[in-house]
Amino acid sequence: MRIDVITIFPEFFSGPLGAGLLGRARAAGILDVRVHDLRDQATDKHRTVDDEPFGGGPGMVMKPEPWFAAVEALERWEDARRIVLTPAGRRLNQPLVEQLRDAEHLILLCGRYEGIDERVAEGLATDEISIGDYVLQGGEAAALVVIEAVGRLVPGVVGDAASLDQESFTTGLLDHPHYTRPAEFRGLAVPEVLLSGDHAAIEAWRREQARRRTVERRPDLLEDGSSDRPA
Ligand code: 6GU
Repeated sequence: MRIDVITIFPEFFSGPLGAGLLGRARAAGILDVRVHDLRDQATDKHRTVDDEPFGGGPGMVMKPEPWFAAVEALERWEDARRIVLTPAGRRLNQPLVEQLRDAEHLILLCGRYEGIDERVAEGLATDEISIGDYVLQGGEAAALVVIEAVGRLVPGVVGDAASLDQESFTTGLLDHPHYTRPAEFRGLAVPEVLLSGDHAAIEAWRREQARRRTVERRPDLLEDGSSDRPA
């Protein structure tokens, strides 16, 4: 899978993309992630990528031309899913992550919070995505969230594929609690059933715990949820 990221802060990505599973997947050639500096597409000596908003108001708006130039400089950009990260986008969830995993090529456009000229969304992007109902200073942290959530579903990135099947949101429920040794720690005991060796009883306990947690913490997940599904 190929992922191109366009940003005015390319250095934001160097640590996270080098670490852990993502770093290993990139080194192994399973994930090809490339970060591009939007300012390389500016045409003036100050490398300007923003300007004042038409109609007035506070803050600056990112100009359209550098975005079009940056995307159109990428090979086969027309075939890619071209995603603007913006708090005004569709909220990311696991079904959407799974849909993005099926694309061969993603282009992630990291805007600053105040915004990108709307013609980038109208004439260049295929998607606008938000990672949740809070405001970030820019799309960079959101792009990392997309890369990690999608990247770990790409075959070969996560060693044990079975660990992907039972986790929260894949089953539609929150995950059950997990325990390891010691069986008692500071007076806190591991639930007896997990020490019993009775696999059917353990399965039943885990299902019940997952259901109870979901009812208590995320009752919204138990409703139809169709409005949250990708189109
Ligand atoms: Cl994608 N961008 C910004 N700036 N803020 C956000 C977001 C994205 N998703 C949630 N908040």
